[in-house]
Amino acid sequence: MQRLLAFVFFSLMAALGEKSLSEACYAKARRFVSDGPVDVKYYLHTRENGGTPTVLTGNIPNVSDTHYRSDRPTKFIIHGFRSQGDLPWVLEMANALLQAEDLNVFAVDWREGAASVVGVTYIKAKNNCRTVGQIVGEFVTKLGQPPNMTHIIGHSLGAHAAGFAGMTAQSEANLTIARISGLDPAGPLFRGNPPADRLDRSDATFVDVIHTETFILGIKEPVGHVDFYPNEGWLQPGCFLSELSACSHSRAQDFFTESISSECQFLAYRCHSWDTFIRNQQLLCDDCSHIGLNGACSVMGYHSVNYRNYAGDSMYLMTKNADIPPHCRTGRARRDTETEQCVQSLDSDLRQEIRDYVDSIADMKEMGLQEDFCSMYSVMEAGVANITAPVTNCGPEDIPVILEYIADGKYDAVKGWAVDLCPRSGGDRAFTLKSASLVIGLQLILVVTLWG
Ligand SMILES: *[C@@H]1O[C@H](CO)[C@@H](O)[C@H](O)[C@H]1NC(C)=O
Ligand SMILES: *[C@@H]1O[C@H](CO)[C@@H](O)[C@H](O)[C@H]1NC(C)=O
Ligand SMILES: *[C@@H]1O[C@H](CO)[C@@H](O)[C@H](O)[C@H]1NC(C)=O
Ligand SMILES: *[C@@H]1O[C@H](CO)[C@@H](O)[C@H](O)[C@H]1NC(C)=O
Repeated sequence: MQRLLAFVFFSLMAALGEKSLSEACYAKARRFVSDGPVDVKYYLHTRENGGTPTVLTGNIPNVSDTHYRSDRPTKFIIHGFRSQGDLPWVLEMANALLQAEDLNVFAVDWREGAASVVGVTYIKAKNNCRTVGQIVGEFVTKLGQPPNMTHIIGHSLGAHAAGFAGMTAQSEANLTIARISGLDPAGPLFRGNPPADRLDRSDATFVDVIHTETFILGIKEPVGHVDFYPNEGWLQPGCFLSELSACSHSRAQDFFTESISSECQFLAYRCHSWDTFIRNQQLLCDDCSHIGLNGACSVMGYHSVNYRNYAGDSMYLMTKNADIPPHCRTGRARRDTETEQCVQSLDSDLRQEIRDYVDSIADMKEMGLQEDFCSMYSVMEAGVANITAPVTNCGPEDIPVILEYIADGKYDAVKGWAVDLCPRSGGDRAFTLKSASLVIGLQLILVVTLWG
């Protein structure tokens, strides 16, 4: 329900976006104006805090009586629209960071400016995010650590705030901070902006970006040194159409947190497009074997910084078909030999047949042929059991793995779509495209009413 509410509010952005405002009005909304002062406070997490962060008030607080130590690296976490700095995802991220490294972690809280209070519009929050960035940039400057000690992680509007912080540190102190991680940077009123008016790769020495909802809330264009598009960068597995935006938009936080200490790596590939990736994972995508990791180009998330040969690359990957962690999907390169042998025992005609089948039902989904998609999907599910015959020494429980392997990950996507699109017997989660568009339509009406 919370997610649904969030979606209603978030839809505000959509209504404000490119579609419903006139050209002139949109241009005006996009322009940055100072909307007055913004109150910022910080939750300082360190290993010494024992799970209870120290609250620092004042935009540029005095850290001398806290656990802050200038000899260890500092991370900032900046939230986005209608959010705040003490939510579970922030705490989880701070804890994961502290488990991995001895750090100062400042969770930035700008809840009033971020419109947690009803009545503050997205436009105002967007203006405020620049002010927040400037404040954080000044704070970084005042802390005066070597540039390689600072890393800012921002979600949604917070990602752009991180960019403005980087820009401020540069202009005020000639200090280029080491890294900014943009987690699904906000899209509305930022799409097509010049680099100075959004997060961009000049804001830090290394800017890595995870795009999880490029349809409404997030920005689609690549803005970093490396941009990751898990699951095509929009409908994340386990997110339902009814909550499409908010659920997928916040998944970037989960991916990042999981990546900090997970054994499983989010392997990502450099390709020209998602389509190239999905059809020929390793044939048409760059051969990245020289970088290591058994043929993967890179890994998404915290450790992406270890693969520094990026040049504004867009990287693609699939995650597990589930809405609960772990999201990381064991990459093709890391499959065990047993599965490999099992797959080898399928003859190549059968492999091609399965690949074509998965492709064809995915195409139907893309063409919006929901009924055909669903009926073919159920045939496929029924047919899965029949594939066992030519496989030797593999149990039926391996079949999804085999399918997934053979279909280059597309099977996962197809399954994700099927869960969302296809009515199931007695399923309370049955959701058709028609009802989804009805819900989205109603929300837009509500939003336009609120806006007007
Ligand atoms: C910060 O706090 C310390 C200790 O309370 C104090 O000595 C110092 O003057 C303060 N610095 C500023 C700039 O207020
Ligand atoms: C920052 O750079 C200095 C030397 O230039 C090095 O000693 C230190 O380990 C670096 N710190 C981090 C966090 O990379
Ligand atoms: C800014 O820093 C860079 C490298 O640290 C240095 O080369 C440059 O001269 C500095 N610019 C100014 C205006 O201080
Ligand atoms: C699976 O095999 C059985 C027995 O050979 C057959 O009757 C059934 O039609 C097959 N199902 C599919 C979907 O191919």
